[in-house]
Amino acid sequence: MVSKNLSRFVRNCLHDLKPYVPGKPIEEVKRELGLTEVIKLASNENPIGASEASKEATRKLLDNSHIYPDGNCYELKQALAQKLNISTEELIVGNGSDEIIKLLAEAFLNQGDEVIAPTPSFSEYWFAATVMNATVKGIPLKSDFTYDADAMIGAVTPKTKMMFLCSPNNPTGTYLAKTELEKILTSIPNDIVVVIDEAYFEYADAQDYPDGVQYIQDYPVVVLRTFSKIYGLAAYRVGYGVAHKDLIHYINRVREPFNVNSFAQVAAVAALADEKHVQQSKKVVEDGKALLYKAFEELGLTYIPSQANFVFVDTKKDSKQVFTKLLHRGVIIRTGDIFGQPTYIRVTFGTQKENETFIKEFREVLAEL
Ligand SMILES: Cc1ncc(COP(=O)(O)O)c(C=O)c1O
Repeated sequence: MVSKNLSRFVRNCLHDLKPYVPGKPIEEVKRELGLTEVIKLASNENPIGASEASKEATRKLLDNSHIYPDGNCYELKQALAQKLNISTEELIVGNGSDEIIKLLAEAFLNQGDEVIAPTPSFSEYWFAATVMNATVKGIPLKSDFTYDADAMIGAVTPKTKMMFLCSPNNPTGTYLAKTELEKILTSIPNDIVVVIDEAYFEYADAQDYPDGVQYIQDYPVVVLRTFSKIYGLAAYRVGYGVAHKDLIHYINRVREPFNVNSFAQVAAVAALADEKHVQQSKKVVEDGKALLYKAFEELGLTYIPSQANFVFVDTKKDSKQVFTKLLHRGVIIRTGDIFGQPTYIRVTFGTQKENETFIKEFREVLAEL
């Protein structure tokens, strides 16, 4: 033991941190349960994988493994700026959008500042704020899991420094409608950084789903997107933020010089050019929705219509028991208890075969419980 009084070494806020609960890895489940076939529908990954163009781009780079990455992500920023019709100065690239969430907290939050976030939502907002000794006010979604814009606005105090809006929201798949977003932006003081986390942007097809990028000139909005979901590049760790160049300037001050590796950069550039892969990935989710929604309806279960690549469904049973039984049958999903919804599970739409396996095993598990 280094010292009897270990807690004296660490910053106080660390005692308040809850460790991130990741989806269980496939290999771990195989090892622990002696299974050979395991499917993971737990981390909202793309079941068809990355574009062939991304894989080829990274293979070509292997001989350059000894060279540091481009710290400015020049090519990737050029490609993103062109696609989004913005300037490269309005972009920051991160080691996943997770990193940008942390950078935002490091750049803008002081001890005692307040952060507003919907609940249930993505746990990294709590993590990043807590590390900076800021406090998070979780504003419950309405009973149908849609946003309560008035409550978010009403929660603002002179101490509020940042507001997270996750849309489509993880784990519910619900979204913030354009009018609601604009109501928030026009009602709150303009010295609150509004982070619109659009990790699932490409899947959203609701008529009134807003594109956050159109607000960056007029409001202190930071839009977050990622290559981990529709582009199938979760292993590479690459995401980006879009904001007014003055905000980007400050976020860059806390960024490590080589935060995005070279393989991630070339894979992301190739992914942006492969529209066919994006369309295929969307189709897989549409097909998955049709199949799972139908099964849930047959089972008499309530699900939340999703704008993302996963669905939140009320199993009416203890989700931990559902999880464990599914795990033993080689299907990994997420329990709702970590989101304060103990009877719900979150299921990522998989390939047709994976979805069929899930439905078969899920039906049997429910019959057993
Ligand atoms: C809402 C939301 N934001 C951000 C992320 C993190 O994405 P990345 O892989 O880019 O760090 C996730 C991942 O699940 C997410 O659900």
